Amino acid sequence: MNAVQDRPLHIVAYCCHYCAYAAADLAGVLRLRYPAEPRIVELPCTGRIDPLEVLHAFEHGADGVMIAGCLEGDCHFRAGNLNARRRVRRIQTLLSRVGLEPERIEMVNMSSAMGRQFAEAATRITERIRALGPSPLGPDGAEVITPSRMSLPS
Ligand code: FES
Repeated sequence: MNAVQDRPLHIVAYCCHYCAYAAADLAGVLRLRYPAEPRIVELPCTGRIDPLEVLHAFEHGADGVMIAGCLEGDCHFRAGNLNARRRVRRIQTLLSRVGLEPERIEMVNMSSAMGRQFAEAATRITERIRALGPSPLGPDGAEVITPSRMSLPS
C-alpha cells in the first residue's frame, strides 16, 4: 500500500435537518453502530445541495458523499429532495467525466424515525467507498473542507 491508500477515508454526509439529521440523532440514542467515517453536515433541506459545493468537497479530499433527505413527498420545502436527487445524478455524470466513480455519491431518503435505516445507509455507503479506495483527487492526508456557506436561511 502507498500513502494514499493508507490514509483514513473521508465521507461527507449532508443531512436534512428535518429527517436524516434527526434519524442520525436517533441512531445515536438507540446506540446503533455504524462506521465513524461519515461526517455529518446539517442542511435545512437537501434542496440546498449545490453541485459545486459537493465537487469542492471531492476536490479537497472527500472520498465519498452521502446525501440524506426526507422521504419523497415529505420534503418540508415541497420538492427540495427531488431537486437534490436530480443534482446527484448530475454530479455523478460530472464525477465520471473527471475519472471518478459515480458510486462515490449516493442519495438516500428517510424519515426522522428511521434511525436504523440511517445507520444501515451509512454502513453500506462506507463499505462501498472502502471497496473503491481513497479518491485519487484528494491530496494525501488532506482534511475534508465542508461548505461553510450552507446554513439555515435567515
Ligand atoms: Fe428534508 Fe427537504 S426538508 S429534504
